[in-house]
Amino acid sequence: MSAVLGIDLGTSGAKAVIADPRDAVLAEASAPIAVDTPRPGWSEQHPGAWIEAVGACLDALAARGPAAMARVEAIGLSGQMLGAVLLDAADRPLRPAILWNDQRALAECAVLRERVPDIGRRANGTPDPGLTAPKLLWLAAHEPQVMDRAALLLLPKDLLRLWLTGERATEPTDAGGTMLLDCATGRWDAELCAAAGWDEGRLPPVVPSWSAAGGLRGPLARRWGLREGLPVAAGAGDNMAAALGAGAARHGEAAITLGTSGVVCAVDAAFRPAPESAILTSAHAAPGAFLSMAVVMSATASLGWLARLLGTEAAALAREAEAFVSDGRVEEAPLCRPSLTGLRTPHDRPDAAGALVGLTPRTDRGALAYAVMEGVAFQFRECVEAQRRAGLTPASFVAVGGGARSALWLRLIAGALGRPLAASPAAPVAAPLGAARLARACLAPGSVAEAVGRRVPTAEPDVPDEALVAGLDRRFRLHRARLGDL
Ligand code: XUL
Repeated sequence: MSAVLGIDLGTSGAKAVIADPRDAVLAEASAPIAVDTPRPGWSEQHPGAWIEAVGACLDALAARGPAAMARVEAIGLSGQMLGAVLLDAADRPLRPAILWNDQRALAECAVLRERVPDIGRRANGTPDPGLTAPKLLWLAAHEPQVMDRAALLLLPKDLLRLWLTGERATEPTDAGGTMLLDCATGRWDAELCAAAGWDEGRLPPVVPSWSAAGGLRGPLARRWGLREGLPVAAGAGDNMAAALGAGAARHGEAAITLGTSGVVCAVDAAFRPAPESAILTSAHAAPGAFLSMAVVMSATASLGWLARLLGTEAAALAREAEAFVSDGRVEEAPLCRPSLTGLRTPHDRPDAAGALVGLTPRTDRGALAYAVMEGVAFQFRECVEAQRRAGLTPASFVAVGGGARSALWLRLIAGALGRPLAASPAAPVAAPLGAARLARACLAPGSVAEAVGRRVPTAEPDVPDEALVAGLDRRFRLHRARLGDL
C-alpha cells in the first residue's frame, strides 16, 4: 500500500508523519526547536536549527520504520507562517529568520499603510509586525549590509524545500503572509513589493499548494531510504495544513488551532478580507477556497510560559487547573490577558503586553493556570465575534494542535464561544497530516479536491451547558471591564 510523508515545521518543533491512503498515521516523529529572544519583542530561529530538527525527525522515521519509509511516494510541507528567511546569491541564510511573533517592525507598519492605503484589502490583512513586509523595511533601515546581499526571500517551509530538493518555490497560502502578494489573484504585486522596498526578482515562483515543486535530492534520499526524485508538493502554511488535516476544506467548515499561537480558521468560498478587525485572509490549500484566520498570538505559548516560571510542564499545569475547577474555585480565579507577544484579532495592538489582575493570598498555581487558559478562551471568543461581523458564521468548530489534548481547555473555549467544539482525532498531528494530504494530491492531479477534502470523523463534540456559558459570559464581561484598556 502506498504512503505519503507530511512534514510540519512548527515554532516549538518539527513533526513528520507517514500516512496511508485513508489518512491513518503509520509512523510519526518530532524534534523540538528553541525560539531565541535576543531582545524584548524579538523572536528568531536559525534555519540551520530547522534543518537539524527536520533531519532528526526523518532519521528517526527511517530508523524505526524502514518498511513504511520505503512505501513513501511523495512528501508534503507545512510550516510556521510569515517568517522572513533571507538568503544570499549562494542560497546561504544571511541572518536568523525573524518569526511571525516578532514585534520589532512596528513603525514600519505605519509606513506601509501610508504608501498603500488599501493594503489591508489587497494583501492578507492590515500591516502587522508579524507579517513579512514590515520586517523587510526594518531590515533595510537597521541591517542594510544584510539587505545589500539578500538575493532571495523565502518562507520557513520553503527553505526546507530548498534543502530537500534544491528548488525555489512557494505557494499562495504562505506567500499571502508576505504582504507582497495580491491575495485575490495569487500573484506577486509590483506595487506591494515596491512599498516594501523589495522586487519580484528576489521572490520564488508561486505554484499551487497541491502541485509537485521539486524532487528529493539523492544524498537525502539515500540517508532516509527514500526514492531519489520523490515529488515534494508545494504544501501550505501551518494553519491551512492543520485545517486540512482536521477536514476543514470547504466553505463553512472551520478549525481552531491550539498551538503556540491559536487561530480560528474559517473556510470561505470568496476572498473576503476584514482588515478592520486584524483578521488575516489568504488562499486556502484547497481549490477555490480562502481561509479567514483570526489570531490569538500566544495560546499554548502562554501556558508554556507559566509552566517554565513554575518549573513544570504545561500538561501538568493544565491538570492543576482541572483540579482547581473540580474544587469549585473558579470565581476566585484572577483575570488574565495572556497577550505575551501582543494582540492581533480584533485589536491590532502588537505592542500590548499581558496582564493579570485579582491576585489574593489564596491564588495558587491551579488558579493561575486556570486564569491563563480562560484568558486564551476569551481571546478566541473575540476572534469568532470578529469573524461573525465579517460575515463568517461556521456552525461548529474542530480543534487541533497540542493544546487540544486538554479537555478543560476545549471545554473553556466551547463555553466561551457558546458553540460545540470537537477535538479532531488528528489533533496533535493535524498540520503534518494536512501536508501529507497535499503530497497525495500532487500524485493525483485529477482528483485534488477529493485528496484534500476528505471528511474526518471527530470525537463527540463538547456541547457547553447553559451554566458554563453563563458563568464564562459573566467573567468575560468582567474581563472586558477590568482588562479592556490595552
Ligand atoms: C498566524 C501565524 C501563526 C503561525 C504559527 O498568523 O503566523 O499562526 O503560522 O506557526
